[in-house]
Amino acid sequence: MNDRYMSGFGNEFATEAEPGALPKGQNSPQKAPLGLYTEQLSGTPFTAPRLANRRTWAYRIRPSVMHKPYEAAEQKLLRSTPFDEAPTPPNQMRWDPPPIPTEPTDFVDGLITIAGNGDSTMHSGVAIHLYVANKSMNDRFFYDADGELLIVPQMGRLIFHTELGRIEAAPGEIVVIQRGIKFRVELLEKQARGYICENYGAMFRLPDLGPIGANGLANTRDFLTPVASYEDREGSFRVTSKFCGKLWEGEYNHSPLNVVAWHGNYAPYKYDLANFNCINSVTFDHPDPSIYTVLTAPSEIPGTANCDFVIFPPRWMVAEHTFRPPWFHRNFMNEFMGLIKGEYDAKAEGFVPGGASLHNCMSGHGPDAATYEKASHAELKPQYLGDTLAFMFETRFVCRPTKYALETAQLQHEYYTCWQDLKKHFRKP
Ligand SMILES: [Fe+2]
Repeated sequence: MNDRYMSGFGNEFATEAEPGALPKGQNSPQKAPLGLYTEQLSGTPFTAPRLANRRTWAYRIRPSVMHKPYEAAEQKLLRSTPFDEAPTPPNQMRWDPPPIPTEPTDFVDGLITIAGNGDSTMHSGVAIHLYVANKSMNDRFFYDADGELLIVPQMGRLIFHTELGRIEAAPGEIVVIQRGIKFRVELLEKQARGYICENYGAMFRLPDLGPIGANGLANTRDFLTPVASYEDREGSFRVTSKFCGKLWEGEYNHSPLNVVAWHGNYAPYKYDLANFNCINSVTFDHPDPSIYTVLTAPSEIPGTANCDFVIFPPRWMVAEHTFRPPWFHRNFMNEFMGLIKGEYDAKAEGFVPGGASLHNCMSGHGPDAATYEKASHAELKPQYLGDTLAFMFETRFVCRPTKYALETAQLQHEYYTCWQDLKKHFRKP
């Protein structure tokens, strides 16, 4: 908590960049203070149950309605549902990091879709994108009507200038910008790269803690929502909209980041993954990786997330008489993994920061041969995994790779070979 952020998850916040900008005692006075326009932004239906209901009242210099008609815009490597460009193979897939472009590329032009599922118009499923950028957005803005964006920076600090305030984020932090909220991205370093989960479904929330109790995993106080800040700029601006899977562009004669004050519980936030209270086994075996869930976007089926965001942070491994890396497994859920820094404990090599892997429904995966041999014979003293930060977007539907993802030079066609040296150890008694 400081003067730039407010602490808490899903709180009813109230913030004004100019004193007296928030009306008192009502939402929509006949004349809003300071000559501002009143606008409500609803992130859920009006009638959503109170605990799930999200909306924000914004007091802005001009309302969002004021723009020229949107027209179809260039799409580059951004893709959306139905993700039917190419057949989806049941193979394990892994990619090297995408190169940073040499030509000027901002956050929106640098979006690269790797895979996705569901139906954006049915508010179900996800898309998984990478971003690569070397240029700030200044007079260009973006909003996504199809989904909520969970952004995982891997390289380069950024400022997300949003309608509801400014969020600065570095690798190791995540930023969530909800459906519809306009923003522009400023680079604080020459290059930026990272991962995005575009969540078409219900909004990310904190998982229930069950027997863990009232505290643990990601704690609510560590989520930071920006205080109001605004731009009073006039001129020629363009807003790129992602709507129904396509990009559209509209002309504005003012900056849409013109909210002088707001109150409500529909607002972007950031979270430093270093604050994650990691829980693990202190006896034997290790729990399912759901114990590492930071945020979950539930579906209508109990316990079946549209998407879980899971991390594998620095942590102690102390389990006795236990194979400590992830076991071999085949899952119902579909697992996209990225690496923010260091090494992942199931893979000795090949999975590098900025890279990615995808293990879809029922595709066998697990430690590579080198890791298996090493872990099977390792001395089981307490071990600190210090230099690591991997994450997973785990989703209920098969992630269907884009044509780009299947054809890019970054796809590691030899990935399967990391398991081919698994020796036969079986001895018939
Ligand atoms: Fe897995």
